[in-house]
Amino acid sequence: MSVGDIRDVGLDQLHALSIAVGWPHRAEDWQFLREIGRGIVAVDEIGRVLGSAMWFPYRADFSTVGMVITSPRLQTQGTGQWLMRHVFSELPRRDLRLNATRAARRLYLSLNFKPEKMVFQCQGTARLSERPRDERPDGEIKALEAGDLDAVIACDAAGYGVERAILIRMLFEQSSGYGLFRDGQLCAFAFCRPFGRGHVVGPAVASNDTDAIAVVAPHVAQHAGHFLRLDTHQDNSEFATFLSQSGMPVYDTVLTMSLGKRLADFADEKTKAPATYALASQALG
Ligand SMILES: CC(C)(COP(=O)(O)OP(=O)(O)OC[C@H]1O[C@@H](n2cnc3c(N)ncnc32)[C@H](O)[C@@H]1OP(=O)(O)O)[C@@H](O)C(=O)NCCC(=O)NCCS
Repeated sequence: MSVGDIRDVGLDQLHALSIAVGWPHRAEDWQFLREIGRGIVAVDEIGRVLGSAMWFPYRADFSTVGMVITSPRLQTQGTGQWLMRHVFSELPRRDLRLNATRAARRLYLSLNFKPEKMVFQCQGTARLSERPRDERPDGEIKALEAGDLDAVIACDAAGYGVERAILIRMLFEQSSGYGLFRDGQLCAFAFCRPFGRGHVVGPAVASNDTDAIAVVAPHVAQHAGHFLRLDTHQDNSEFATFLSQSGMPVYDTVLTMSLGKRLADFADEKTKAPATYALASQALG
């Protein structure tokens, strides 16, 4: 096998690779990931794509890693290790974060990634449950407009710990978004876009469960009766209950892991920063 640039292979080949491991990505989802990130593929001597790995450089010193796949017929023969070594050679001295499936945990542990916290992949057929009035938040929910983008980028950065301006701008173009405004200030938001089997909500950032529910609920209403997904770190909370009552119980879990700086190193201890309530995706963080 040789290593190639992910941009040099057909989208249909990447799509076939993710289908082979049971992932829901559409060709369009791969296309978006190729526009926002970089990556490599393992190609055999007749041009078949048998492996992939991508990274998303948000800052000169920080990237997420994702879309690490080995074709089922090649698994457990060292291809995952080989792909990750190539990723490391492209990303010297960078802090890395990824979301590890159960199948991949041993691979990343052996590469010195440290476990951080669980991600709950919640999905199903959306339905809107009525909420009592006293649980409604202060402020006004509005559909986000282009003029709100700078505030959304700042809110996402506060929740994620790293600014992701390019990602947020690109996601905005293909998402619908709602924001919670108090005294004209954006204090929570949630995006939702087509992905995989239906739509995905994310990113979503808020300071508490009530605000998070307020910005996610309009997306649930909009997609009632259809497949909706949301990946979150929130567990045993009002928000988690809201998700399962909205038709999106936990379907699977992945483990956030980091190499270099830990998650806590990105948190701003001085201010009561908002939290990420929905990931942009497992690969994008
Ligand atoms: C995760 C994945 C990429 C690993 O690829 P791979 O080519 O099988 O990886 P390797 O052969 O290099 O094995 C990596 C490590 O996992 C171990 N391993 C692999 N498969 C294993 C299995 N079924 N049971 C136990 N250990 C296993 C290997 O022994 C190796 O351990 P070591 O580094 O301590 O020697 C592959 O299983 C895959 O594509 N899974 C589906 C998609 C996925 O979940 N991707 C991960 C996204 S985070």
